[in-house]
Amino acid sequence: MDPDPDRTRAFGEQLLGMLTGGMLTMLIGIGHRTGLFEAAARGPATSSELAERAGLHERYVREWLGAMVTGGIMEYDPADGRHTLPAAHAALLTGATSRNVGPTASSLRTLGSVLPQVERCFTEGGGVPIAEYAAVSAGGLGETWRHIYDEHLVDGFLGRVPGLHERLRAGVRVLDLGCGTGHAVNVMARAFPESTFDGLDIATDAIADAEAERAAMHLPNAAFAVADAAALAPERPYDVITAFDAIHDQAAPEVVLRRIHDALDPDGLFVMIDTNFATRLEDNLADPYAPLSFGISLLFCVPTSIATGGSGLGAMWGREQARRMLADAGFTDVQVFDTPRPQNCMYVCRAEQR
Ligand SMILES: C[S@@+](CC[C@H](N)C(=O)[O-])C[C@H]1O[C@@H](n2cnc3c(N)ncnc32)[C@H](O)[C@@H]1O
Repeated sequence: MDPDPDRTRAFGEQLLGMLTGGMLTMLIGIGHRTGLFEAAARGPATSSELAERAGLHERYVREWLGAMVTGGIMEYDPADGRHTLPAAHAALLTGATSRNVGPTASSLRTLGSVLPQVERCFTEGGGVPIAEYAAVSAGGLGETWRHIYDEHLVDGFLGRVPGLHERLRAGVRVLDLGCGTGHAVNVMARAFPESTFDGLDIATDAIADAEAERAAMHLPNAAFAVADAAALAPERPYDVITAFDAIHDQAAPEVVLRRIHDALDPDGLFVMIDTNFATRLEDNLADPYAPLSFGISLLFCVPTSIATGGSGLGAMWGREQARRMLADAGFTDVQVFDTPRPQNCMYVCRAEQR
């Protein structure tokens, strides 16, 4: 039977929108990395004026502007040949803020750089070692998360946990697992000088960056170490353990969750910030963030987990599976909180009394 022509036509339009979006995403990344958006935000400009402002070659800037104008990102006045980045658009394309989507657009380039390796995994199995992802933590997603921590970690995330600010102000021992380049640890250590903060990650380079930032910020109450979370067995229990966007990437998440449970004081809290999706595919159909997060999971979370011998849990494990795994690890009291980002939720878990 011939396909429904109206449906085919509508899907063709949908596909054109996707191809256009894919292309504009790459060009937004260029605008972010070359400083074109910052320059454009300073006022209307011809291609020559904008190129001079940004210190770039006019011919390339002109073609980029053509895509920006026809793509609805910038406006063009044929009367004077000037291009304008509307203030409402500049709010989402400029500035050192988590609202700036430039770093996320840029991070898709990083993910694109490993497409041949991921495609090979489809046919041959296996994973992609994290070392093959150029600058994953230095730019792109890592940069966005740094801004999120600056803007939201202390109040927007931790401030929602009843009683946590009080405990942190009084002075407790905190561990951040999978701390990456450690910005969250350093932000918390600065906000709560009476508490001590240990950051732990398996990536040596990330821990070196974390320690350099700690030293630059003069934080005596933070410390970092290279270690495997699956082998966590501290000499003294912690009062609070955090894991920010780090559990679903683990090779052995079940083991890590059990280790976290056992490393907590009986009154301790485990605070896990993770993705905010449903476990069943059919329950994510109306979620506008789902396709992007599935893509990031496919191109980063799953292959990096499998590369270290994991099963590739992935970013889309979902709230129901997370709750099941937390319960299996011994957390009988789990509350899920909304966060300032709809794509993320926060699990606040109390250890079972032992
Ligand atoms: C997506 S990053 C999140 C980093 C950081 N929490 C942040 O929000 O910026 C996940 C981190 O988990 C770390 N990781 C993965 N497996 C680990 C393991 N077995 N032990 C410790 N860290 C691990 C990775 O090296 C990476 O830094």
